[in-house]
Amino acid sequence: MARPVKVGVLGAGIVGSGVISVLARKGDRIAQTLGARIEVSRILVRDVTRQRDASIHRGLLTTDAEAILDDPEIAVVVELLGGEEPARTYIERALSAGKHVVTANKEVIAKHGYELLQIADRHRVNLFFEASVGGGIPIIRVVRRDLVANDISQIQAIINGTTNFILTAMADGREYADALAEAQRLGYAEADPRNDVEATDAAYKLSILTTLAFRADVRPERIHRIGITDLAEKDFRYASEMGYVVRLVATARLVDGVIEANVHPTLLPRDHHLASVNGVFNAVLIDGDEVDKLVLYGRGAGAQPTSSAVLADLCAIVADIVAGVAQRVDFPATSPPVRAFGETTARFYLRLSVADEPGVLAQIARALGDSGISIASCIQKESDEEARVAEIVIMTHTARQSAMTEALQKILHLSCTRQVSASIRVDR
Ligand code: HSE
Repeated sequence: MARPVKVGVLGAGIVGSGVISVLARKGDRIAQTLGARIEVSRILVRDVTRQRDASIHRGLLTTDAEAILDDPEIAVVVELLGGEEPARTYIERALSAGKHVVTANKEVIAKHGYELLQIADRHRVNLFFEASVGGGIPIIRVVRRDLVANDISQIQAIINGTTNFILTAMADGREYADALAEAQRLGYAEADPRNDVEATDAAYKLSILTTLAFRADVRPERIHRIGITDLAEKDFRYASEMGYVVRLVATARLVDGVIEANVHPTLLPRDHHLASVNGVFNAVLIDGDEVDKLVLYGRGAGAQPTSSAVLADLCAIVADIVAGVAQRVDFPATSPPVRAFGETTARFYLRLSVADEPGVLAQIARALGDSGISIASCIQKESDEEARVAEIVIMTHTARQSAMTEALQKILHLSCTRQVSASIRVDR
């Protein structure tokens, strides 16, 4: 058995406590497997007097980050504080001091991972962040290491469990507000749900996957995101009648050397690999030239799945310490460009409320046609004869996003238009 590996943990919240508790229960078996024991030697907390899990020894607690970052005996720092600062600074300091780092922090890795990975490389230490995307799903190591022989052309993912829970409930007939309230009641959605429902969380995660899959510098601000707050239950019904489900899909693809990365509600054909991902589950579909299609599915959140991912990283680091190696991510000197969202193409599902009068469909068709958009199908779903308003659903052929934005502006200004109720991209 090699010398024990000393670990400092920053943050003893629900995931930190979970990690320490697993080590207390399974430390012997893990040590047998790795050839070295993992020894948690310091834990940074805000309040040392708070009541905690029995596996957390009070003598290990400190409120002083320096006690971990400046301790030369500590070889690995596990950052579980969340939020951008001071987490980013602590990670950078730990790496620069030659310590390996495990983090679950998607915000820090999405915004600063590109530089932090290079700092890790310069100091020949590991920076691992398996828990930052897809909770317990081992996706980061798959993209970073297991698919190394592949040129990845596309990643499509359902990587936010809260929104997937809400969308699954809407497919069962619930309206958005009702489904959100249920998600909050069950503890999936936070009291302020914006980070999830406005797709910020999914954009962070997609930024991380894109950076690794395409060895590119793609920060969250380069990822166009559309949340789920404007979706109506009715669209789930109409989509279902046409053979589709509605999901919040994060997509990154490389098209002719240009990266397209965006997150938005998407109509997926019912036989799509991601279409049957329901509730809080996550899934990632990867297209690699050697492996072909690969799907990873599992729990994207929660203390235990997240602890599982943190421990996988921690164990990989201990194995590397025993072997005397570190794993690097190699970035080329120049990053591929990112295509502006307006320049990307998709088919579109539109739902419009229009005056139920002669010639109205012709006006809508002309507005779309003038922007170069071809209609694939058009159905009049409902009409309110008294109000003389009809609801029409249009599916288009593939069109440029900017052309659709222009056409919708024209449609909005037609005197026959009462409302553009939905405009949702359709998976090709
Ligand atoms: N809020 C996230 C989700 C979990 O709903 O998937 C943390 O990444």
